[in-house]
Amino acid sequence: MASAAETSTGHSEKERIVTSAIQEISHIATLPEITIKIIELVEDPTSTAQDLHHIISNDPALCSRILKVVNSSFYGLPGQIGNINRAIVLLGLNAVKNIAIAASLAKLFRGGELTPTFCARDLWRHSIVTATAAKLIADQAGMGLADEAFLGGLMHDIGIMVEMQVSRQKLIEVIERVGIGTDGVPRADMLQIEEEVFGATHQDFGLGLCERWKFPRTFRCVAGYHHRPLELDAANRAIVCVVHIADLISTTLDMGFRGDVLDATVNPAILEEIALGQVGLDQVIEQLPEQVDTVSAVFT
Ligand SMILES: [Fe+2]
Ligand SMILES: [Fe+2]
Repeated sequence: MASAAETSTGHSEKERIVTSAIQEISHIATLPEITIKIIELVEDPTSTAQDLHHIISNDPALCSRILKVVNSSFYGLPGQIGNINRAIVLLGLNAVKNIAIAASLAKLFRGGELTPTFCARDLWRHSIVTATAAKLIADQAGMGLADEAFLGGLMHDIGIMVEMQVSRQKLIEVIERVGIGTDGVPRADMLQIEEEVFGATHQDFGLGLCERWKFPRTFRCVAGYHHRPLELDAANRAIVCVVHIADLISTTLDMGFRGDVLDATVNPAILEEIALGQVGLDQVIEQLPEQVDTVSAVFT
């Protein structure tokens, strides 16, 4: 996979900008200790459900959040699941890990209102819509990667939060130059303007942050390539294509920030990548509002 340095305009100056930005904000933007432990544990092939249960049971708030997610209609499990062990048995280690990460991500999207058309909560709202759409797409395409897709959607624009931490003033300049209307629709290409103002885009910063956090490769690819999935090699492409499409169709709902999507037309070649036809996509768009309500109730 390409590193943060090998992006569209790829040169060492960009690498320097991204590296120093990530260093600068690392004292602010950290994942909770427990989330890091969970990621490490699930990446370790020798770990067991019991190990995960042991870590999670030390955090009652996380326990109750996980049970709330598990029991929501989003997972559609029969009956009420009353404890974490049962949740792990039913959903698997990987799903519970993803829920734990998701539960901790919300805390990073803070910082108040920057301009009348941008605040961190709007970006989080957009992330929830994209995550929900990504899960629906993965389900619809029969890919069996719904939890990865969901988490990918939740963190795809995390690079914008990096920009906000690095320089609120520069992000305000970007948003103002993008010229977002009251309908949320941008008038100019945000990525181009980010290049001009920051010297790198939110894809570059997102990839840098995910590398720093040692996130699994899938999520690094999502953060770094969600606007250009076909630039990735085929082995790393599937979830990124899913999140890319989810990001575009999130614009069908009038919810959250969408200032980095200038053209919401889905490229047929990308639909083909994940074997999803227009009919499947239309079904996802139809289910989206109700599912977003369910997910919002859990994650906000
Ligand atoms: Fe984006
Ligand atoms: Fe987005």
